[in-house]
Amino acid sequence: MDDSWVNEAERIGADLHLELSGPGGRRAALIRALREAVRSGRLTPGTRLPPYRSLAADLGVARNTVADAYAELVAEGWLTARQGSGTRVADRAEPLEAAARVPKKSPAHARGPRYDLRQGVPDASAFPRAEWLASYRRALQQAPNEVFGPGDPAGRRELREALTEYLARARGVRTAPERIVICSGFAHALRLLFQPSGPGGGSAVLRGPLAVESYGLGFHRDLLTAAGVRTVPLPLDEDGARVDLLARERAVLLTPAHQFPTGGPLHPARRAAVVDWARARGGLILEDDYDGEFRYDRKPVGAVQSLDPERVVYLGSVSKSLSPALRLGWMVLPERYVDGVLAAKGEREAWASVLDQLSLADFVARGAYDRHVRRMRQRYRSRRDRLVAALAERAPHVGVTGVAAGLHAVLRLPPGTERSAVKAATWQGIALDGLAEFRHPEAPTAVPDGLGGSVRAGGGLVTDGLVVGYATPSEHAYAAALEALCGVLPPA
Ligand SMILES: Cc1ncc(COP(=O)(O)O)c(C=O)c1O
Repeated sequence: MDDSWVNEAERIGADLHLELSGPGGRRAALIRALREAVRSGRLTPGTRLPPYRSLAADLGVARNTVADAYAELVAEGWLTARQGSGTRVADRAEPLEAAARVPKKSPAHARGPRYDLRQGVPDASAFPRAEWLASYRRALQQAPNEVFGPGDPAGRRELREALTEYLARARGVRTAPERIVICSGFAHALRLLFQPSGPGGGSAVLRGPLAVESYGLGFHRDLLTAAGVRTVPLPLDEDGARVDLLARERAVLLTPAHQFPTGGPLHPARRAAVVDWARARGGLILEDDYDGEFRYDRKPVGAVQSLDPERVVYLGSVSKSLSPALRLGWMVLPERYVDGVLAAKGEREAWASVLDQLSLADFVARGAYDRHVRRMRQRYRSRRDRLVAALAERAPHVGVTGVAAGLHAVLRLPPGTERSAVKAATWQGIALDGLAEFRHPEAPTAVPDGLGGSVRAGGGLVTDGLVVGYATPSEHAYAAALEALCGVLPPA
């Protein structure tokens, strides 16, 4: 790595802002200010202080005043002075307050679960570091200077162009760069659509109530509630959400490619029906396409958005495909919503890092995104197959649904056994969630059996289940994780 900038900082010494005030003259004031800067952690151990002459010039004091102050603080142990390496903050000068602020980890937290089978996180060990770095490097090298000035709240055009092409090709989305707004993920998109803004405090784009699937992420429901949006649960059956029950709602939030978390796609007739509803009632469909690329049984289910781009807000992110840590997502908007969303976005702190945007643009445009998704699809498919095989052998009475796509499956349990199974898993160091965790508080407690490429589907309704994410454990821990999981399932 080119470390010339480090050497330059070393040579010059840290730039230092100090206020000299209080009793006792300039020397005493300087000692107090430096001591305080170290104690509070503003100057960290090892930091090189400016040479006498430059700090004296900055502060308008005599060179000897600085030399005396440094000498005093060396004597007190705050600073060290060594020939040839200047004056530095001493290693053991731990800022007391900062140390006190670090929360002590509880033993359980420090260890974490032995096996993490919670849904939601892709295989972190498979992040394509080398290819991402190549894209980042190219983005940085090729970026014109204006990239480093104030950006465009819609996001970099390069990324919006790359996404227009990719989403059309891979997900059937019909759009143009002008209709795309880059955001930091699905959750951010929800906030932008519903956040109160303007003098009246009304939502920038949408007003509730909002119909949602009766099972979904509680985090998203909470976020909507906090924005003042009432969510109304739509029951699920074997064809997906009962969109025929949509009533007075102005909008509906769906996961049509892969119902979250139960796992089935929205039936083609329902896809058409919900678009008809939106046209007839002036309604809007929010399409959460969180893992649409990961389909194992056949071609991915295309986006509902393609049926009517003026009636659907299509939302996606890299959280499942690359990493939730990147915080990069996109909104594909009907034309009439673009200005409202941009106005809601307004403030600069809500924009995604321009360098990450440019890196992703390069990553997508060069086909690295496609390659990564293909690679991960194979890996997840093999993990899913191993899960299904382990259950068939060790717990043949437990059905599996939702296995045709995504990074998680639902294990169907005998009625009344979910809570004890989750408890048993916790005892064995397995982190996972029961189905109840995802239920809308106003929804009925059953989901259809056989939803989403069920294995050994029996018909009827499922009340108890475990949502098992199979992407997170590292490759070498996966066999043991499956073994442990089978060990906590209720007997036949
Ligand atoms: C149902 C669902 N929607 C959307 C997302 C993506 O959320 P975000 O883009 O905010 O990370 C997730 C999690 O990855 C999810 O489980």
